[in-house]
Amino acid sequence: VNHQADKGVLAGKKVLISAGPTQETIDPVRFFTNRSTGKMGFSLAEAAAEAGAEVTLVAGPSGEKLSNRLINRIDVLTAEEMYEKMHQHFPSHDIVIKAAAVADYRPKHVYSEKMKKQEGMWSIEMERTKDILKSLGEIKKHQFLVGFAAETTNPQEYGVQKLKKKNLDAIVINNVAAVGAGFGGDTNIATYINKNLKPDEITLATKIEVARKIIRFIDRDMKDEGQ
Ligand code: CTP
Ligand code: CA
Repeated sequence: VNHQADKGVLAGKKVLISAGPTQETIDPVRFFTNRSTGKMGFSLAEAAAEAGAEVTLVAGPSGEKLSNRLINRIDVLTAEEMYEKMHQHFPSHDIVIKAAAVADYRPKHVYSEKMKKQEGMWSIEMERTKDILKSLGEIKKHQFLVGFAAETTNPQEYGVQKLKKKNLDAIVINNVAAVGAGFGGDTNIATYINKNLKPDEITLATKIEVARKIIRFIDRDMKDEGQ
């Protein structure tokens, strides 16, 4: 087993990572979010830094901490804020990894006062957020762009569709329904697929080990492309 990332393979490279969930406000005391804890994205930031990269981490609300103090952490709450920060930093980075679980919908109306309960039902109208990853794929130049896909059924098929639709260089597919994988836990199981569509299976391992493998695959693919 490899307990360290290959030191220095990403020396001179700038890596931009997004991690965690987003938080979409309903009123001053309520919001919508999801089960992401940020662990996978934070592990990627650590692994990229271990490999010698200069790392910027755009993090949604997460209790995770970083051990590498050189990582530049930028905290955001909403999908809109994450969109702004990712676009601000995108042009200056070489590798961009979107591990965040971005809300697909947010409340159309944000109440400035706390909603009081009333008789009967309450429905909240939801509008779509921007697809950050897809928008980065549309403006991509030299960047190696990596997405994540969280799936519960047909992971490979849906993952490959996302790779193509969002103009990615690679996608990491998580079957979040599998034992040992997905939200919150310390371990993960994933499939890395690049543009050749040949899957690299990442078997059950801690998230930091999974992160190191992902970094190694990215480095391999960039070298294959002469970058
Ligand atoms: N993503 C994003 N902005 C969004 C939604 C998703 O940047 N508004 C990114 C995620 O960070 C991830 C990838 O797109 O890297 C795939 O996210 P996922 O939720 O699996 O796919 P969606 O395209 O949102 O499709 P669906 O949820 O319907 O499966
Ligand atoms: Ca989604």
